[in-house]
Amino acid sequence: MNLENKTVLVTGGAIRVGRAICEALAREGCRVVIHCNRSVREARSLAARLRRGGTPAWVVTGDFRTAEACERVMARAFQAAGTMDILINNAAVFHKQTLMTASDADLCAEWEVNLAAPLRLIRAFARRVRRGKIINILDRRIASCRPDAVPYTLSKRMLAELTLLAALELAPAITVNGVAPGAVLAADRKGSVREKAGRFLLQQRPAVADVAHAIVFLLQCDSITGQIVYVDSGQHLLGSDG
Ligand SMILES: NC(=O)c1ccc[n+]([C@@H]2O[C@H](COP(=O)([O-])OP(=O)(O)OC[C@H]3O[C@@H](n4cnc5c(N)ncnc54)[C@H](OP(=O)(O)O)[C@@H]3O)[C@@H](O)[C@H]2O)c1
Repeated sequence: MNLENKTVLVTGGAIRVGRAICEALAREGCRVVIHCNRSVREARSLAARLRRGGTPAWVVTGDFRTAEACERVMARAFQAAGTMDILINNAAVFHKQTLMTASDADLCAEWEVNLAAPLRLIRAFARRVRRGKIINILDRRIASCRPDAVPYTLSKRMLAELTLLAALELAPAITVNGVAPGAVLAADRKGSVREKAGRFLLQQRPAVADVAHAIVFLLQCDSITGQIVYVDSGQHLLGSDG
């Protein structure tokens, strides 16, 4: 797909990894719909900056903890931009909770945003487009067995499975791929609590820019669907040692 003038919805696009994805796709010529929940100020400022650079950009807001909000966000994104070619399911929550420390409410909260929302958005997108591309942002944790973030890891593993199932069901009109980053940014937004990133086979932390590169590549390539690309400096090969 030539990305010039294609319209993309990036969920959780206002800050951190989502913002890098919006910026990278804008550089490729995409029109960008930035979804945000709490980061409204950051989303508006990013949209203004993209527009100043010549990229049509819009902001849609919504809390993905309900099905209605997912449908509303997709409807508003179409309303704003008039059309949509690409959906990037990037929004997620991450908590360090073990099997025994996570409450039922914790489990539901994580699954609602990390799994149910992408599923609902995929359906809402697929109902509206004739052709399109979807990227689900996963996590290299889907390949390792670390018990420190059980609800999160389960949600991302199920999202990886959904990526393959959706690729099968939505072909040939829509391609569905996953990008699984390693620890590109510390979990805490202020950076004060740095997550233990573990060992990297390539002896360097994976870069946010490389996550965006992988997304651009998967979107440009029309022969790939049902693929999961790890952008984790090889950490998925190290299993629970990574
Ligand atoms: N950071 C890493 O090193 C890393 C590593 C592996 C995988 N990943 C994956 O990469 C993606 C981006 O990572 P990140 O660290 O940039 O994520 P993040 O900052 O923790 O969250 C991304 C966005 O998700 C949105 N979000 C959270 N709860 C929401 C809700 N209830 N409704 C709607 N939106 C909600 C937030 O939007 P608002 O700010 O607008 O509220 C937030 O900006 C995630 O899927 C993550 O799992 C990240």
